[in-house]
Amino acid sequence: MVKLTPPMGWNSWNTFGEHINETMIKETADSMVENGLLECGYEYLVIDDCWSLRERDKNGRLVADPEKFPHGMKAVAEYVHQKGLKFGMYSCAGNLTCAGYPGSFEHEFIDAATFAEWGVDFLKYDYCYHSNIIPGEYLYRRMGLALENCGRDILFSACSWGADETHKWIKTSASSMWRSTGDIFDTWESIKDLAKQQPALFPYNGVGCFNDMDMLVVGMYGKGNVGLQGCNDTQYRTHFSLWSFFGSPLMIGCDIRDMTPETKKILTNKELIAINQDPAYRQPYRLNGIWQNDNMLTYAKNLANGDIAIGLFNLNEEKAMARFNLDEVSLPESTGKTLSMTDIWTGKSANTVNANVMWELEPYDCAVFRAKVVDLP
Ligand code: GLA
Repeated sequence: MVKLTPPMGWNSWNTFGEHINETMIKETADSMVENGLLECGYEYLVIDDCWSLRERDKNGRLVADPEKFPHGMKAVAEYVHQKGLKFGMYSCAGNLTCAGYPGSFEHEFIDAATFAEWGVDFLKYDYCYHSNIIPGEYLYRRMGLALENCGRDILFSACSWGADETHKWIKTSASSMWRSTGDIFDTWESIKDLAKQQPALFPYNGVGCFNDMDMLVVGMYGKGNVGLQGCNDTQYRTHFSLWSFFGSPLMIGCDIRDMTPETKKILTNKELIAINQDPAYRQPYRLNGIWQNDNMLTYAKNLANGDIAIGLFNLNEEKAMARFNLDEVSLPESTGKTLSMTDIWTGKSANTVNANVMWELEPYDCAVFRAKVVDLP
């Protein structure tokens, strides 16, 4: 399936791990609609690992665990579809999934047919317990082919983080997104680490196959499937801003049946989502290589309507000053233009003094502007 902007939705893994079942999936579908998430663009509800029995049936087909999903996956898909959402599932290019359930290796076409029959719209495809002889590249193309020949439009999400040099071949497969870095965890260190790895991967990002920075941990507060300390709201806001700004698919990972008002506010920030979903989908460029330290990420991104998104991200544990010059966004004084900048999160405006913009940021905080090109006063 060809997708023109990054996929958005919810995935069960980060919070629930193996503790998934029909009731909580249905409740999640309800919440996606009731909380306005679907309206914001979060359309895929994805069940991750641990949904099946440990054995295939006698015809070699995957079987949903009847204790977790007593009415089968088709019934779940129908419920999800009735809500106006799309339904996603998970499998793996190896013999087993990462949690040890049957994988799709040498069952690619039969599994694609099963998913199509169940009404699946999205497949996350992992890379554990894989062959050491057949390269990942072959296995992802193989599943891509199986999906494109299964008679249903199924978005292929490659979770190919462990394969060799995925960025070089992933666009030869049918994947619409690929996991460009390792697993996220609900800690500030993990968010910072993934964010800092991403700029080196911008050249491989683009419409057709988006760089996936992994599911969001916004709103988990340490309640994930692995016990971790979690983050605070400032850190979650910066995390969401980074993922949005860098163009990652936005897959929510918290329990949305039980969101705090702040979590909901972060996840439903329509201006940030609009930057993520910008129809031009251009890559960000770095501002101000000279003044910044390693933990101050300052980026601009030219949007389809002529605005410039500016993202200032303070990954430091201390207050810090972000700065850049209008020359760097191609607006030297000679153009007769300047930027009108209002921070999306706070509504505060930035001043330009002699073509320099300076903005102080609290620890872990960020500012994101959708800046307008205006005449110099
Ligand atoms: C891998 C993936 C995770 C999740 C688990 C499930 O670690 O990267 O996102 O799908 O497997 O076992």
